[in-house]
Amino acid sequence: MKTLKDLDVKGKRVLMRADFNVPLNKEGKIEDDNRIRAVLPTINYILEHGGSVILMSHFGRPKGEPDPQYSLQPVAEKLSELLGKKVNLAPDCIGEEAQKMSDDLKPGDVILLENTRFHKEEKENDPEFSKKLAELGDMYVNDAFGAAHRAHASTEGVARLLPHAAGLLLEKEVETLTKVLNNPEKPVVAIIGGAKISTKIQLIKSMLDKVDNVILGGALANTVLLAQNHKIGKSLVEEELAPTVKDLIDNKLRIPVDVICAKEVKEGAPTEIKAVGEVEDDDFILDIGPDTMSIYSELIKDAKTIIWNGPMGVFEIPDFATGTLDVAKAVADSGAYSVVGGGETAQAIKEMGLADKISFISTGGGAMLEFMEGKKLPAIEALN
Ligand code: 3PG
Repeated sequence: MKTLKDLDVKGKRVLMRADFNVPLNKEGKIEDDNRIRAVLPTINYILEHGGSVILMSHFGRPKGEPDPQYSLQPVAEKLSELLGKKVNLAPDCIGEEAQKMSDDLKPGDVILLENTRFHKEEKENDPEFSKKLAELGDMYVNDAFGAAHRAHASTEGVARLLPHAAGLLLEKEVETLTKVLNNPEKPVVAIIGGAKISTKIQLIKSMLDKVDNVILGGALANTVLLAQNHKIGKSLVEEELAPTVKDLIDNKLRIPVDVICAKEVKEGAPTEIKAVGEVEDDDFILDIGPDTMSIYSELIKDAKTIIWNGPMGVFEIPDFATGTLDVAKAVADSGAYSVVGGGETAQAIKEMGLADKISFISTGGGAMLEFMEGKKLPAIEALN
């Protein structure tokens, strides 16, 4: 993979792909600016070496046409604040106005192009669309690790048309995740949570091959409990996957022995701790229980490397966030080399003020999962 040091950016307009797909709150304000802060070192590197920067990104999932609710305007404002200089937003990512703004750039300038997904050709990785994007810059830098699993025009197509390199964030993500996958200090514990086992079966399989213990939590563990003929009541489950999941059951796989149940999925609903064999037909399993946490804590304490993706319960409701928060604390206190990914997992860590105690927080959700599954990511392949 080519890196920034392979490019001479002096006097050049650098077309840079970032992943500015950030959560907004109800007022349209950015709720978590991590993904924006994470690419500042690359922007500053280019500026300090005499280049100018044309940033581009997708935002949300618009339907291939302009849609104001998916405008990158809030990101342009945040970038202006963080960089301490005005970052203008081009009204479109291709076309006359974007071209003019790019032609007018002077070394040290930064502009942002409007959402690449306002064109359906972006997701189609259309060669003509890639060509139009490429015309805006002299070289291409990809720092969008979070979107590296997408073979889109702005992540893959355009890399084939310009001198290119990975940005500092993408380089760091690849280096760190490769190290924990291929050369970790043992014992290694993978903690996998979240709602759907269908999105994580490959990851669980790949981790069972590589690590010493795989700890499960969240609703995805319900499908494993069902596969073991435990009652799970009305809990979230992917029943059709129970037969497939049976094959995963292995002595490295740790599943909850007790759970927090309630009769309703809402704040303030009375809760009960139940052994997995005691769950009733009208129960919802909403978090891991204290005995499970004790077992998981011991494994986490003894680990030298920890990989964590996904919450242990219905983390957005405080009554069912205890398991996730306790795991966050155990990981932070373990002294192990720890790598965490996924929006909610990173949020739990931040909420507890533990970010400084985690070795690396990946900006990738789906991209991190696919990387850890051992898949080749198209946007990274295009940088070779
Ligand atoms: C993410 O948020 O995981 C990335 O930005 C990719 O977004 P997508 O799943 O809409 O392609």
